[in-house]
Amino acid sequence: CGICGVVGHKPATPIIFEALRRLEYRGYDSAGIAVLNDSGDLERRRAAGKLDNLGAVLGEAPLTGITGIGHTRWATHGAPTTNNAHPHTTDRVAVVHNGIIENFAELKAELIEVGHRFASDTDTETIVHLVDHYLQQGLLPKEAAFKTISRLEGAYALALIFKDHDGLLIGAKHGAPLGVGYGEGETFLGSDSLALAPLASRISYLEDGDWCVLTPEGATLYNAQGEEITRTVHNVAFMAGQVGKDGYRHYMEKELHEHPVAIGQTLQRITDPAAKKIALPALPFDAASVPRLTISACGSAFYAGMVGRYWLESLARLPVDIDVASELRYRDLPLADDGVALFISQSGETADTLGVLRRLKEAGQKIVSVLNVEHSTMGRESDLVLGMVAGPEISVASTKAFTAQLSVLAALSIEFARSRGTIDSQREESLTSSLLDLPSRAAEALTRGDAIRDLARIVAEARDVLYLGRGICTPIAHEGALKLKEISYIHAEAYPAGELKHGPISLIDRTVPVVAIAPSGILFDKTASNLQEAKARGARILAFTDSKGAKQLEGIAEHIVVMPDVDPFVIPILYAIPVQMLAYEVALLKGTDVDQPRNLAKSVTVE
Ligand code: G6P
Repeated sequence: CGICGVVGHKPATPIIFEALRRLEYRGYDSAGIAVLNDSGDLERRRAAGKLDNLGAVLGEAPLTGITGIGHTRWATHGAPTTNNAHPHTTDRVAVVHNGIIENFAELKAELIEVGHRFASDTDTETIVHLVDHYLQQGLLPKEAAFKTISRLEGAYALALIFKDHDGLLIGAKHGAPLGVGYGEGETFLGSDSLALAPLASRISYLEDGDWCVLTPEGATLYNAQGEEITRTVHNVAFMAGQVGKDGYRHYMEKELHEHPVAIGQTLQRITDPAAKKIALPALPFDAASVPRLTISACGSAFYAGMVGRYWLESLARLPVDIDVASELRYRDLPLADDGVALFISQSGETADTLGVLRRLKEAGQKIVSVLNVEHSTMGRESDLVLGMVAGPEISVASTKAFTAQLSVLAALSIEFARSRGTIDSQREESLTSSLLDLPSRAAEALTRGDAIRDLARIVAEARDVLYLGRGICTPIAHEGALKLKEISYIHAEAYPAGELKHGPISLIDRTVPVVAIAPSGILFDKTASNLQEAKARGARILAFTDSKGAKQLEGIAEHIVVMPDVDPFVIPILYAIPVQMLAYEVALLKGTDVDQPRNLAKSVTVE
């Protein structure tokens, strides 16, 4: 979901529509725009489904005005219908909102009591009626907005425009991202820098509790107490090329091809290639004496964290706890004094991850975040940000951010191991070299398209698919299964190969392909036996392995993707690439909306 707003001197609708296009990647299922028309009245157009539907509505009934707001909605309260789409309006005010208003039921009851009529099932409509209520009592827009905001509980980023107040736009943020973009005689609100950057070269980000009053001349920012404040203004260099598809069919295809660059740029930032050493920024704690590390994240970032745990335990002998953020947030976890908490997030805005970050910060843990968007809320609230340099990731399903996250976690594991004296300098150099070699190996992995398409034809026919891995490859099996579910809508499950016989083996027959992440190495023979067990029950085995593994899997696997031989340390980073490519190829065969799969959002800012 995404928000944008503009006050200026040019027609607002095309500016907002294009900004909504740039916000599409965040995931949404309806969209809308409202403007102040020439008579000073509020007018809106909304449509369920994709932006093209809204475009068609606007084509038939254009909206003219220079003050406006727009929204892409990812349904929380109320189905993704036109009626529930934003903006929500009364005669006097229009609002767009991301997040959830937790006390909406009680506010709604209060408003119904004094005669307000509601037209949708959304929590958002309560905001607009509350502002309207205060306007009716004679408050000015700014006062009515402030009074409303101070009564809202939950998460929100919102934008308001008012009848008869051309050139006035009010925004507020609490728990969902919102930025102000400064232009020449025009000022903007937007959910992220992708929405704002082509419009404004200077952006400031609101913090929780902040709200702002925008006019074409600029913005005044306030805190929750209504006192005027300032926030850092960032100069953003926008490279238009970074957000185009560059001739690829989908952003996902483009971003898959950016794995080598994302890994390479990230490593450049955190290593000293000449010395073959890790060169991370100074850690805000003593790595040698950290008693315990707690890792939390969601989705693909969580699987990156699972890999990180293996590395940190085995290389640095560091005790690690890890859980998905929505669980860890409510677990009564005993924490070590002087403990460190590590968060992994592409966007830096995921509500569940942010919730745990805040909780563990309050509990006295040092906070380190591995982020792609460094100016994000998590970035601002962390003691240390370890930035990946993956560039904008537009496809909802994460690709290059995942391998960039893993690259940072690998470097961090080496750094911990060095500080804790669990590896010597020769080992540090050999591990670092294997990392520095990755961009070329990743480029090589991308050439396995033909072999991967052989697998894809079998997977695309299936209703259920089982992904198996062992040890450090188990998280990669999870990443493969997640990606397949997300973009091809085929049910997939990942299992540690050894656990197959304790349950999922009962599912196996010829219609359930088994995808194995099985590089040669110490656990290979055990995985191969598990694959034999599956084959004996009719399963078709599809394997990702290296040249040595390929020889041993002949006769077991029906198709094998032979990966470049690499140091076992970097195997999870390299093998993530073909499993993501497999999901992409299957999605192509299924003809799904690859970049914006149904029901999913890129940046989930609600719990
Ligand atoms: C959503 C996306 C996933 C992503 C997850 C975590 O579910 O669809 O691709 O892995 O959020 O997002 P984050 O921005 O915190 O990495």
